[in-house]
Order: sequence, then structure tokens, then C-alpha cells
Amino acid sequence: MANFSPSSEDTSISFSRIAIAMVAIALAICLSAFGFYRFQTSDPYISQVLAQKGEVTQGQEIFNLNCAACHGAGGVGLVGPSLAKVSHRKSQVGLINQVISGKTPPMPKFQPSPEIMADLLSYLDNL
Ligand code: HEC
Repeated sequence: MANFSPSSEDTSISFSRIAIAMVAIALAICLSAFGFYRFQTSDPYISQVLAQKGEVTQGQEIFNLNCAACHGAGGVGLVGPSLAKVSHRKSQVGLINQVISGKTPPMPKFQPSPEIMADLLSYLDNL
């Protein structure tokens, strides 16, 4: 009984409790991020857009009319940032939200029909 040392045992127990709590928190964050993504894609507008196969040439015309003034012809950047390979940086849902949310002024809030948004998306995918 001389070597009995309750204090060191206590530390190891509380350490593994902290580890378990950290894993649980990480899991909760992952699940809620997934839930948020699911929630976003269950938005009827977004799922309508994603259900369509957009036309690139149509998307280009729409882009030239509505976006090129800021993003430059071909999306090379002007007032707005370059959109080259933007679909590698942003998800499809992220791109749709960027166009429809109006959360990053001076970029206006656009309200394209799902067809037009799908056309735009396929154009953006090709930049
Ligand atoms: C009045 C100028 C303006 C117009 C018009 C405009 N944008 Fe933008 N756009 C911006 C600015 C400025 C940003 C940067 C916003 C920020 O992140 O603060 C931006 C950001 C973006 C981004 C995100 C880029 C990235 O790297 O994350 C996308 C995608 C985008 N615009 C697409 C479009 C599309 C598509 C249109 C046409 C439907 C459009 N924009 C019209 C100014 C504009």
C-alpha cells in the first residue's frame, strides 16, 4: 500500500475524459456541418437549380449581361474578383448562394429563375 498514489490515477482519468469530450465535440461539429449542408440542399430553389443541366453558352450570355461589368469578360476580374477556377474554391451551393444572397456588397442580389441559375452555374464551372 506504500506505492498507492491516488493523485496520479485521478489525472489519467480526467485526461481521458477530456479526450472523450473533445472527440464528442468534434463529432458534433461534423454532424452539424453535414446537417447544415443537407438543410441548404433541401432548399427547394437550390435543389431545382441542381436538378438541371445548365447550358454553358446560355450561361455565358447571362454572364456577359449581368456579371461581366464587375467580373470582366470571361470572369478575369475587374471590380469584382477573378472567377477563374472559382468552382474549385466554392461548392455549387456556395456559388448559388453567392449569386442570390446579396451578402457581399457591392455585388447585388440576383434572383434568376432556376433554369438561368443552372446555366450560369455551368458557365462558372468552366472558368
Ligand atoms: C456590382 C459589381 C458586381 C456584379 C454585377 C457581380 N458581382 Fe460577383 N462579386 C463582386 C464583388 C465585389 C465580389 C467580392 C465580394 C466579397 O467577397 O466581398 C464578388 C464575388 C463573387 C463571387 C465569389 C468569388 C470568390 O472568389 O469567392 C462569385 C462566384 C461571383 N461574384 C459571381 C457573380 C455572378 C455570377 C454575377 C452575375 C450574376 C456577379 N457576380 C455579379 C461584384 C459584382
